[in-house]
Amino acid sequence: MSTVIKGGTIVTADLSYQADVLIEGGRIASIGQGLVGDKVLDATGCYVMPGGIDPHTHLEMPFMGTYSADDFESGTRAALAGGTTMVVDFALPSPGQSLLDALKTWDNKTARAHCDYSFHMAVTWWGEQVFDEMAAVVDRGITSFKHFMAYKGALMVNDDEMFSSFRRVGDLGGLAMVHAENGDIVAELSARLLAEGNTGPEGHAYSRPPQVEGEATNRAIMIADMAGVPLYVVHTSCEDSHEAIRRARQAGKRVWGEPLIQHLVLDESEYFNPDWDHAARRVMSPPFRDKRHQDSLWAGLQSGSLSCVATDHCAFTTEQKRTGIGDFTKIPNGTGGLEDRMPVLWTQGVGSGRLTPNEFVAVTSTNIAKILNMYPKKGAVLVGSDADLVVWDPEAEKTIHASDQQSAIDYNVFEGIKVKGLPRYTLTRGVVAVNEGKVDSHEGHGEFVARAPRPAVNRALTAWKELTARRPVARSGIPASGV
Ligand code: URP
Ligand code: ZN
Ligand code: ZN
Ligand code: ZN
Repeated sequence: MSTVIKGGTIVTADLSYQADVLIEGGRIASIGQGLVGDKVLDATGCYVMPGGIDPHTHLEMPFMGTYSADDFESGTRAALAGGTTMVVDFALPSPGQSLLDALKTWDNKTARAHCDYSFHMAVTWWGEQVFDEMAAVVDRGITSFKHFMAYKGALMVNDDEMFSSFRRVGDLGGLAMVHAENGDIVAELSARLLAEGNTGPEGHAYSRPPQVEGEATNRAIMIADMAGVPLYVVHTSCEDSHEAIRRARQAGKRVWGEPLIQHLVLDESEYFNPDWDHAARRVMSPPFRDKRHQDSLWAGLQSGSLSCVATDHCAFTTEQKRTGIGDFTKIPNGTGGLEDRMPVLWTQGVGSGRLTPNEFVAVTSTNIAKILNMYPKKGAVLVGSDADLVVWDPEAEKTIHASDQQSAIDYNVFEGIKVKGLPRYTLTRGVVAVNEGKVDSHEGHGEFVARAPRPAVNRALTAWKELTARRPVARSGIPASGV
């Protein structure tokens, strides 16, 4: 059965034009005027855009003594509700665990996924086994490797481990990724704050100032440069980190930064709320920042120095957050956002004139599809692309309430925010998952998206390094040793 989306304006990262879209076998079969299909979706007054891709989620993640509450079932359902048609999650080996074992565990979490997904692999320890298994992970279609510079004593790796891993990633044609915060300093500051009686959720923000993120971002960029590997910096939350990324890009380095919708919209005053639950629900790393950092992040999206907007969706219930009463270091770190990323970014970005609709598509879908080497299967409206599409109604409005959301948790950090711009239809490989604004998605429909290495960037970096390498000086007439 074919489906035709009629009467809309196609909006991609580089073009806007009026055309119908015909879908057959889950893919875009034709784009043009007056197309005919078995089923018709009316897109009058709407934009037809590539479905969103969220490159940073943690569904059913084991973390800080518990599991994040949204799994691949509720998480991908929430994604589709908000116009996101693909998520990229992180397989996290425990220190000492085989990467392939961890991958099996993550594979087993996905049976109920409503939309397509892929994985990044985390490198949480270093050794010959990790070095060897990284090649097998790439063969499985996972080509991006994340390194935590924070969470000391748990997920954190040191500079020498990162350098070894980055070199291996470079040789495999992969992408190095970092959570950039100086974990040693965070641990010291946290201990000092607790000793001084600063035990509330605001202590979390005090223990992770922007300088801690800026330093780690600079360090990761230097290590990636020495290793000759491209670098993706997740959850860039502040000017200090953005400045490092901007400078690296201006110097010709292949570095990308990813602000989260939370950091673009919410600020650190949330942690000063006298209601403990309100503040703790917003504890995540990096924390929300002073408002001036938001201007920097928006400017980065506008100018192209920051590339993708993600959520880092890692949702914990209020009950789970309460583990940290009396000690902020025990509050599970993470917030939700999968359902809200696209509507909130559209409203506060396109609605305010800070982003064009084409830039919106670039930062929510196309840029990451290119960075992760899955374009134009994903992130495009082109003949042959997967029909992962959102028919976006720029006039539809709602106020965000936890009571209406798909996520399993009992609150929403965007509670009360009004949005204008919502999916009329969301399609995942041609199957309608949001119909006239109502969620009607299908458990188990989601498939794993394998990604090939992208050796061209890495080869370019290596070739240039080789050309410009420091070499021994050729000398004639070396004096005899001893005078
Ligand atoms: O607080 C956060 N961001 N939790 C999820 C894990 C991570 O650091 O990305
Ligand atoms: Zn992180
Ligand atoms: Zn994360
Ligand atoms: Zn159905």
